Amino acid sequence: MARGLHQRFQIQGCVAKSRMAVVHLAFDPENERHIALKRQRPDLRDDPLITSLFRHEQRLAETFSHPHIPQALETGVMDGDAYIAFEYVQGHRLVDLLTQINQDRRFVAISQVWAIARGVASALAYLHRPGLNESFPSGVHMDVCPHNILLRENGDPLLIDFGISRSAWLAPDVPVVLGREAYVAPELFRGASPTPALDVFALGVLLHEALLAKPLFRAADRAQTFARIQHAPISVPHLERSSCPPELGSIVLRALARDPQRRFADGGEILSALSAHM
Ligand SMILES: Nc1ncnc2c1ncn2[C@@H]1O[C@H](COP(=O)(O)OP(=O)(O)OP(=O)(O)O)[C@@H](O)[C@H]1O
Ligand SMILES: [Mg+2]
Repeated sequence: MARGLHQRFQIQGCVAKSRMAVVHLAFDPENERHIALKRQRPDLRDDPLITSLFRHEQRLAETFSHPHIPQALETGVMDGDAYIAFEYVQGHRLVDLLTQINQDRRFVAISQVWAIARGVASALAYLHRPGLNESFPSGVHMDVCPHNILLRENGDPLLIDFGISRSAWLAPDVPVVLGREAYVAPELFRGASPTPALDVFALGVLLHEALLAKPLFRAADRAQTFARIQHAPISVPHLERSSCPPELGSIVLRALARDPQRRFADGGEILSALSAHM
């Protein structure tokens, strides 16, 4: 019998289950370390869309090496199960921090917002600008949101979940899958093809939320959320929170420009703007 994931790893629990994948906390006895084991959902093994996207995520994971992206340790297919073993990140998701902050009526420290902004922008710059690294084509993450940012215990942010991302390694006939709806850039509703500016907009939304400790566009249902993304007024962070530096507030507003031509074009551009204020 072919060796399966349960023979190779000691699977200790389920961390998350989504529409495409399951993530387990597991122990790798061969290398004596804990891992986050992401596998394609076993019930969707034969789904061609999910299989193409998961194989693409595996290929990107094998290539990536960046301080703000969790390191993949191993990828493969065992007894029909496609998987990625990642370094296990001790910490929590940005969405959990934001929920807690919102309940406690507190704010995320400005220094932490800068750190999140720089870390995620630097991961996006790496993904968007393959000229810096010839080994992979330019990609678009497509699902930048507080659920997909992990914070290490020292506060360092990591961008995770390249499960619906796009790059030249994905066949062009694989349909675009929308990410978490409150972070989708308005041009995507108009049928635009994915560009790095989509990820910049999503980063703008999450930074605005981190600065003001409340959702920017999220509404009661999908239709209202999409309407808000296209038309709701966007408050000026440094006018609403006096401790927010105007430079940071202005960068966030530029990332949120509804016209992609007026937005930072990619992670490299927003990273340069942020780095000018270190
Ligand atoms: N390297 C890691 N270390 C620790 N936890 C992780 C790691 N990778 C993922 N997780 C946990 O698993 C969850 C799901 O991971 P991921 O977002 O990659 O999967 P997904 O199935 O695409 O999820 P979703 O569609 O819900 O965003 C994360 O929100 C996080 O809590
Ligand atoms: Mg995710």
